[in-house]
Amino acid sequence: MKSVLDLASQRFSCRSYKPNTVPPEMIEKIVEAARLAPSACNRQPWRFTIVTDPEIRRQLAREGILPGLGMTWLADAPVILVLGLKKSLVTHKVAPLISGVDYSMLDIGIAGEHAVLQATEFGLGSCWIGWINQKTTRQIVNWPPEIIPQAFITIGWPNTLPENRAPRLDIREISQWKR
Ligand SMILES: Cc1cc2nc3c(=O)[nH]c(=O)nc-3n(C[C@H](O)[C@H](O)[C@H](O)COP(=O)(O)O)c2cc1C
Repeated sequence: MKSVLDLASQRFSCRSYKPNTVPPEMIEKIVEAARLAPSACNRQPWRFTIVTDPEIRRQLAREGILPGLGMTWLADAPVILVLGLKKSLVTHKVAPLISGVDYSMLDIGIAGEHAVLQATEFGLGSCWIGWINQKTTRQIVNWPPEIIPQAFITIGWPNTLPENRAPRLDIREISQWKR
């Protein structure tokens, strides 16, 4: 069994996928990993639409993202997980006015990354997509106005290995100890 550190090291943003489908049982476990995520006041503000339908995937790739980044590869991912946010009044609207902390974004990020790490454990590739058109995405996935699209996560069998890993800052640059 792989450690969390192994999975975090293995994961990379995969932007090329084989056409093979992902078994529904795997997708269910990926969403289950997200469901178990912690959230501020346990509000669990995440909502998911799992898109495997090829025409809807093409639509998301065409109209659900913002122009300029050349992300046509998106439609080739056999699964597009659309992450939405349902804000609670107290935790996600009032509390941030006092603390300055956007708990909803923390919650969505944690849940999404749980999903990504579970996908990695299955040997699946994935990629977070934040460059989305919220308005058209909402229409495509048919969400009511209170659910705000936040990101996609593409999932599928990788067609590439990461040739050049995206570099990371040195641990001394990003962390300090007070002891
Ligand atoms: C919130 C978020 C949004 C992202 N949006 C996009 C995106 O719109 N398009 C894309 O190709 N990659 C996107 N990425 C992937 C990042 O570019 C990638 O994680 C980063 O360059 C580090 O590379 P790595 O994931 O391969 O380690 C996003 C990642 C995150 C976490």
